[in-house]
Amino acid sequence: MDNESVAQYRSWFSRFVEEHAVGNELDQQNILLKKTHTAGVCGNALRIAAGLGLDAAATSLAEVIALFHDVGRFPQYVRYQTFEDSRSVNHAVLGAKVLLERNVLRGLPVWERSLIVRAVALHNVFILPSRLDDEVRLHTEIVRDADKLDIWRIFAGLLGRNPAAWPSAAGLGLPDTRESSPEVLASLERREMVRLTSLRTLNDFKLLQLAWIYDLNFTPSLRMVIERSVIERLTASIPPTDELSRIARNLRNYVNERLDAHAAPGQAPSEAVQRP
Ligand SMILES: [Fe+2]
Repeated sequence: MDNESVAQYRSWFSRFVEEHAVGNELDQQNILLKKTHTAGVCGNALRIAAGLGLDAAATSLAEVIALFHDVGRFPQYVRYQTFEDSRSVNHAVLGAKVLLERNVLRGLPVWERSLIVRAVALHNVFILPSRLDDEVRLHTEIVRDADKLDIWRIFAGLLGRNPAAWPSAAGLGLPDTRESSPEVLASLERREMVRLTSLRTLNDFKLLQLAWIYDLNFTPSLRMVIERSVIERLTASIPPTDELSRIARNLRNYVNERLDAHAAPGQAPSEAVQRP
């Protein structure tokens, strides 16, 4: 993948977004949210790629996967007026279909085309399949980290504002009550991911996002969690309890332990120890 191809794909993406513009201003806010999100994910993917020491071609590939990862969101919203996959379609699979049906990647070798399509299709699965080609795994893990980091950025930016004024899709339509569900808190205590189907309140959604920290793949991503105060910003928006403090402490310890393990002397050179 060279720079010229990346520039062409960026123009294709802009045209694709234009094509999915919607008349209603509230709906258009949701479309623009995904456009801005895509730019954020591209920036994060570039930072992770740099932190991992990837070469120029692999870095461009990571950027293109980030650019296309949510391409399915646009037709999803136009057709169903929602970003909730459970009420519409799996947006990652739809994105992979868009890339194939429109033959967007026709200029690339077959292996690269299929790698991009697979990474896009897998970017939102709950757990990655255990058997994956090394390169597909690497790029899927990069886009998954980059995606989470940008969702935290968007969400943290919204937290200071009344949820009633958020773009309608941002809070998944969950009620902004003071409660968190015991089931969701228990998953966090076990350091496990939270399933979307178990969400009852907006606080549950914040907890689900905190649990993503346990799913991060690379040390550059963990560093960004610290830099951007992700744990502090999300927990500050949930009513304080002892259980929440414990959850926040566990998360901080987990991030610090992984960063310390990475920095510890006697470890393999940086590229090799980025992953758990
Ligand atoms: Fe997505």
